[in-house]
Amino acid sequence: MIVTNKEQFLQEALNKRGAENALRKLTATNGLIDFCSNDYLGFARSTELAKNIENEFHSTKNIRNGSSGSRLLAGNTKYAETLEKKIAKYHNFEASLLYNSGYDANIGLFSCVAKRGDTIIYDELIHASVRDGVRLSFATNYSFKHNDLLDLEQKIKSANGKIFLAVESVYSMDGDCAPLKEIATICNKYGVLLIVDEAHAIGVFGENGKGIVFELQLVKDVFATLFTFGKAMGCDGAVICGSEILRNYLINFSRSFIYTTAKPLHGLISINCAYELLKQSEQAIIMLKNRIQYFKSKFDKLHHSLTKIESESTIQCIIIPGNESVKKVVANLQKLNFDVRAILYPTVPKGLERIRICLHAYNTETEIEILAKQFQAPV
Ligand SMILES: Cc1ncc(COP(=O)(O)O)c(C=O)c1O
Repeated sequence: MIVTNKEQFLQEALNKRGAENALRKLTATNGLIDFCSNDYLGFARSTELAKNIENEFHSTKNIRNGSSGSRLLAGNTKYAETLEKKIAKYHNFEASLLYNSGYDANIGLFSCVAKRGDTIIYDELIHASVRDGVRLSFATNYSFKHNDLLDLEQKIKSANGKIFLAVESVYSMDGDCAPLKEIATICNKYGVLLIVDEAHAIGVFGENGKGIVFELQLVKDVFATLFTFGKAMGCDGAVICGSEILRNYLINFSRSFIYTTAKPLHGLISINCAYELLKQSEQAIIMLKNRIQYFKSKFDKLHHSLTKIESESTIQCIIIPGNESVKKVVANLQKLNFDVRAILYPTVPKGLERIRICLHAYNTETEIEILAKQFQAPV
């Protein structure tokens, strides 16, 4: 590789990453047994869903490949507005607004609702998209200790202005859940505006995969909830659910909503059809829950000496400290045909490097059992 003077500083940063054994590289999906993707219910690979999308797309006689503009200009459709109403109703909210991705939704939300003089408090394990949104706002911001209610209350007491709190119902890197009921009670006590990211809960928790906010009947207690469609829903995009006023505010002030080309009709139809399928997916959700319990029981029986983060979700993490060590274990598992991936420092703190196993309704008990056993040998 030729490194010019202009690029020297880039190469130096890459070299530093390399020296820490933390250089990120793109690898194409490898056809191994999937314990890595976010396709929890198998929607992304569902031929039934693909067929439904195709049928609906052809029946609309759409002649635009792209949406050809921002929602505020040429890119809006009746279809998008009807879909937003349907999604809001599904999760029991008054309104929702579509974004092209969960990343866009989080940066668009946090950057515009909190102003200079306000405070955004977030769980220390919050997703990077929330952190980036927080950085784009002019509000004061700081974290509280992961799932620590005492620390949260202390942090709220010293906050100024309007206070926003950002949590995930299921944490993406640890797989554990937030104590949402208790958090909502604290937020109500101090008038804090609670924002919940349900990226890894939709399709998994709550009646028909409606999420944990719905399951715990907290819809009235939250200021906004994010649902993304790139995980259990098997497609892409996201919505922010909340009040009609919040929706109108975002349409007016949320820059990642305003200054981008709207999702084309095909993407909207994919989301619509995924919701239709979700309504009929009780059995798949039960199967998924069984698979999660099966993995936990097998793993816990075999590996008392390994640290596993306690989790009831599709995300099960085994801590293997050190980038080099965790990479070695992952390489061995991949040789055995399992697609598992290492989560390295600096994505997670030093010492908490891990194998992040994602469970799916389509993983068989045999696959899970064999995977669970493999941890004995290399560690
Ligand atoms: C908790 C959480 N929020 C937001 C996102 C971003 O969603 P998207 O992939 O749709 O951009 C992700 C995943 O990438 C996530 O895990």
